[in-house]
Amino acid sequence: MLPALSVEIDGGVLQPHRLFMAQPDAVWLEIGFGGGEHLAAQAQAHPEVGFIGCEPFINGVAQLLQAVERNSLENIRIFPDDARLLLDALPEASVDRCFVLFPDPWPKRRHQRRRIISPDTLDALARVLRDDAVLRLASDHKEYIRWMLFHTIGHGAFDWQARGAADWRERPPDWPATRYEEKAATRGVDSIYLAFRRRPRG
Ligand SMILES: C[S@@+](CC[C@H](N)C(=O)[O-])C[C@H]1O[C@@H](n2cnc3c(N)ncnc32)[C@H](O)[C@@H]1O
Repeated sequence: MLPALSVEIDGGVLQPHRLFMAQPDAVWLEIGFGGGEHLAAQAQAHPEVGFIGCEPFINGVAQLLQAVERNSLENIRIFPDDARLLLDALPEASVDRCFVLFPDPWPKRRHQRRRIISPDTLDALARVLRDDAVLRLASDHKEYIRWMLFHTIGHGAFDWQARGAADWRERPPDWPATRYEEKAATRGVDSIYLAFRRRPRG
């Protein structure tokens, strides 16, 4: 199944709506989907949306393919590589929603520059997300949450949507749990959920 569902980058600009058999109403992107539980559940709940999932870990890709087959999902395409290569290939304002859930926290100070949430990735996301697009981030690693907030609010293109503590303490009902979130819960660690809106371009 992978060759048929795989997103190829050939050096040109990728038109994400054209990846799908039927023209989707919107394109949503998940970066680092792990085992693909969240991506498969969202794709099943939103058949009108085209989903692109990025995940270089091949066992995770294989797990997502099983869910695609089991549930006859036709609205998922997979980029089995570094999401930053995909972001560079996408046109300006071409994505309606992006999820980065429980990214690797790289807790050691000298490794922090490997974090996927970084000024460079936020620049790329600000470029590819449409005006008012939603960016959802989550982690159980409190220091990484502080880092995400610092860099995302400081970036200038994103507004944090939280109005009260429940907005970041509780996972919204349309946000299926991921494997890493469940692992954290088993250890008794709470997770934090962040939702941002891409500010309209001036
Ligand atoms: C801690 S896991 C979380 C997986 C899943 N989101 C979850 O919540 O269960 C982080 C995932 O991000 C993937 N990842 C790391 N760097 C990435 C990158 N540059 N582009 C895309 N995925 C990446 C890893 O392979 C891994 O599967």
